[in-house]
Amino acid sequence: MRETAEQAELFTAKLLLKTVQTLPDAVLGLATGRTMEPVYRAFVELACLRSVNTTSLTTFNLDEYVGVNSEHPFSFRRYMDTHLFLPLGVNSAQSHIPDGGAHDLQSECAAYEQKIKEAGGIDLQLLGIGMNGHIGFNEPGAPFDSRTRVESLTPETQRDNTDPRHGSAPSHAITMGIGTILDARRCVLLATGSRKAKIVARAVEGPPCDSIPASALQRHPHCLVVLDADAAAELARARVVPAAKGQDSLLP
Ligand code: GLP
Repeated sequence: MRETAEQAELFTAKLLLKTVQTLPDAVLGLATGRTMEPVYRAFVELACLRSVNTTSLTTFNLDEYVGVNSEHPFSFRRYMDTHLFLPLGVNSAQSHIPDGGAHDLQSECAAYEQKIKEAGGIDLQLLGIGMNGHIGFNEPGAPFDSRTRVESLTPETQRDNTDPRHGSAPSHAITMGIGTILDARRCVLLATGSRKAKIVARAVEGPPCDSIPASALQRHPHCLVVLDADAAAELARARVVPAAKGQDSLLP
């Protein structure tokens, strides 16, 4: 845990940077959401400062809304282009996002799983957490061995993802399954802010159960949970790692 959200975000950005520096052909699993915006901003800044080569990088995003093309205001492709891919110079052949506009959604999901396999699996999967404990768009009840598929979103998730400028979020999404996420070699979950404190405590310290999808990460052998003090407030056990000193020991 870091004291401030800014420190937690910077730590996560440095984790991404270190991964790409040590493994130039890394396969990164990426997440969207407000939590990730400052992380991508810091990552782009650091990568540019240190002239990190990203041409051999491959990325797979967790999810995309159904019925949404890259021009749509809710498009995660649009989000990723804005916050990461364009500033970093990652092209569309390197960066994979499920096609929410696909005619045959089942085939799109199967093809996405296949592409991850062909890329050799995911080295580092970045994750946020929804207010109901979802990871990707795996809503409560999603089996821990689920694969990439279409998920219907709860009214709570749709409400949380509503954009005042563009209205309510779509009702369905393609998401990597929990099993797909658990196959990643390392997972990093970032949560910041007091609104996430309750669900973080249930996911991290409660028993793993499918009503809290993020609790599945307790079964992952290499999962790091990065929090600020506000998001960690409801945890019985949390360790503050001073930003300057302890950081390197947690980096890969
Ligand atoms: C969306 C995404 C998740 C993300 C969650 C949290 O539902 N599908 O991957 O973790 O939002 O979003 P935020 O960071 O905006 O709280």
